[in-house]
Amino acid sequence: KKITLSVIKADIGGFVGHSSVHPETLETARGMLSGSPLLIDYHVTHVGDDINLIMTHECGKDSGEIHQLAWDVFSSCTTIAKKLKLYGAGQDLLSDAFSGNIKGLGPGVAEMEFQERTSEPVIVFAADKTEPGAWNLPVYKMFADPFNTIGLIIDPKMHGGFLFEVRDLIENKKVTFSCPEELYDMLVFIGAPGRYCIKSVYQKGTNEICSTSSTQRLNLMAGRYVGKDDPVLIVRCQSGFPAVGEALEPFANPHLVSGWMRGSHSGPLMPVSVDQSNPTRFDGPPRVIALGFQLADGKLHGPQDFFADPSYDLARQKANEIANYLRSLGPFEPHRLHLDEMEYTTMPEVSKRLKDRFEKLR
Ligand code: 13P
Ligand code: 13P
Ligand code: MG
Ligand code: MG
Ligand code: MG
Repeated sequence: KKITLSVIKADIGGFVGHSSVHPETLETARGMLSGSPLLIDYHVTHVGDDINLIMTHECGKDSGEIHQLAWDVFSSCTTIAKKLKLYGAGQDLLSDAFSGNIKGLGPGVAEMEFQERTSEPVIVFAADKTEPGAWNLPVYKMFADPFNTIGLIIDPKMHGGFLFEVRDLIENKKVTFSCPEELYDMLVFIGAPGRYCIKSVYQKGTNEICSTSSTQRLNLMAGRYVGKDDPVLIVRCQSGFPAVGEALEPFANPHLVSGWMRGSHSGPLMPVSVDQSNPTRFDGPPRVIALGFQLADGKLHGPQDFFADPSYDLARQKANEIANYLRSLGPFEPHRLHLDEMEYTTMPEVSKRLKDRFEKLR
């Protein structure tokens, strides 16, 4: 019997501004999921202003019923958000009519279907004020870097390596790299996380799913700016997959991600507990949470709020120091993103207004 773990998220309105969620929206989501006969178990959480629905069921991936349920939850939460005039109410719900599959509509989706092992530890990561490519570096480290994951060297079940499915979010194509043999080829692409994202990782030989992320790129989907797609990631751990601590280790060194203020800046990804996940300084810095669960017959035992641990205190301090330095650059690159990566810009307007003031040089 296979179970499916679905993590579906949306920003249906921020409280206050883009910093967090209103408790009434979380309560509504919990109420609706607890009443659903489709689910084995669920956990509702948030990172910053994004609501995450973590659900287990037997309906498989891309189930119309499960996606409908998530859509209904986010729609009801949007009604509350509108009543409370929360900021950007309904921001991620791009269409009023649901048509069977939530992908491409706005909410982010990460789903995997698998046969539960004797022991099934999983980690659900969720980030705010960034984009799906933010997972490239940590997922690479978890599954391909022996300086992060000693299991790649000393665990016979990991020594063969992993398969990485990489998506081109602009041309909507996918390619699979077999690592470690194709590491250098893969890095050519995933080093450009605004365009190429690691969607899933599979164990070589067994083809077991190890990791999967949300990759919808909102700002391109709607044909207009609607916000960067704050992403989620699921990682299965232990017994041939990275140990829990190997999956958490990459976040001890806060890497730079795109997002932060107005989705138009580069900043360090700060690992935090759920309670600390309220991006504040300059609407940031970007945050990541990690919730651990032991699955047992589809039941989600947990969560363990991993980044609440004091061993991540130094990472937070380092993120604050990096943030402080980057802020000192103000509106200059590389703190402000390159022109074609910003979520909004006044460039066309200002250029048009000043058109006649530019003199041709010869
Ligand atoms: P324990 O000896 O605590 O079970 O830990 C084993 C392990 O693999 C830790 O990464
Ligand atoms: P969110 O994508 O989290 O809504 O943030 C948008 C923003 O503009 C923050 O400054
Ligand atoms: Mg928001
Ligand atoms: Mg957000
Ligand atoms: Mg966003």
